[in-house]
Amino acid sequence: MTIFNLGSINADHVYRVPHLPGPGETLAAGSMQTGLGGKGANMSVASARAGSHVAHIGAVGADGLWARNRLMEYGVDTRHIALLDVPTGHAIINVDDAGENAITLFSGANQMIEENAISAALSVGRTGDILVMQNETNAQVIATQIGSNLGFRVCYAAAPFDADAVKAVLPFLDFLILNQIEARQLETALGIKIEDLKVADIIVTLGSDGARWLNAAKGVDQQFEALKVTPVDTTGAGDTFTGYVLSALDRGMSMGQAISLAMRAAALMVTRMGTADVIPDLKEVEEFSGL
Ligand code: RIB
Repeated sequence: MTIFNLGSINADHVYRVPHLPGPGETLAAGSMQTGLGGKGANMSVASARAGSHVAHIGAVGADGLWARNRLMEYGVDTRHIALLDVPTGHAIINVDDAGENAITLFSGANQMIEENAISAALSVGRTGDILVMQNETNAQVIATQIGSNLGFRVCYAAAPFDADAVKAVLPFLDFLILNQIEARQLETALGIKIEDLKVADIIVTLGSDGARWLNAAKGVDQQFEALKVTPVDTTGAGDTFTGYVLSALDRGMSMGQAISLAMRAAALMVTRMGTADVIPDLKEVEEFSGL
């Protein structure tokens, strides 16, 4: 089966700083590196490294051809990544000594993806394929509608969080992944508890406390423990988690097995500095046992 990912592609400029800069502060970085990122690209790389066929739907400018090539080198099907006459998206990422980050995004081509290109890409899929999105591209609603009509399992990773963006796609979702803060924000925006959402599967990630899986039809409300690690950089850990969960489901694992594998992948990811370029492969994840 295929995982279709309507997703962002960024150049990530990652700065190591002693603490996250405050208002008006000028801060010297100890190091700087540029690599492949974007929540979408990170998820595509994670799913591909976990063993799935991933078709990424997105866009770059001429300055981002290297990013499209790198996705291909990482095993992602890049035929549906358009080359547009606009700049590629990028992110300025500050990472402090505790591994926490603050990110500034420039969307660029990620917000210019053509709807025709999305429907053409999805039309080659089959019932039971997975469609995943995050909130860094345009055309999320049309993509969820098409995916739902075609019988795909439609998944939304609600980051960067925007309650209105979640509300717009909610009627078409089979699967929602969000963190604890986002879950509370969504509860406030909708006026209902997260467990009462009409979405078949919901995962609430809890950082170092693990994850919670909800499936109302199966009567599931299950918590999963996280592996203990010393964080170096938490950037991209959530994306790695989502990519690994979807790949595991795509390859026929149960949701419980998928979450356990994905938590292991995310834990290993936070021990590494960088984003898509350092997402672990399946062998590394299976051999990793934390501290
Ligand atoms: O989740 C991490 C990602 O957020 C980075 O790769 C950055 O590009 C932003 O999209």
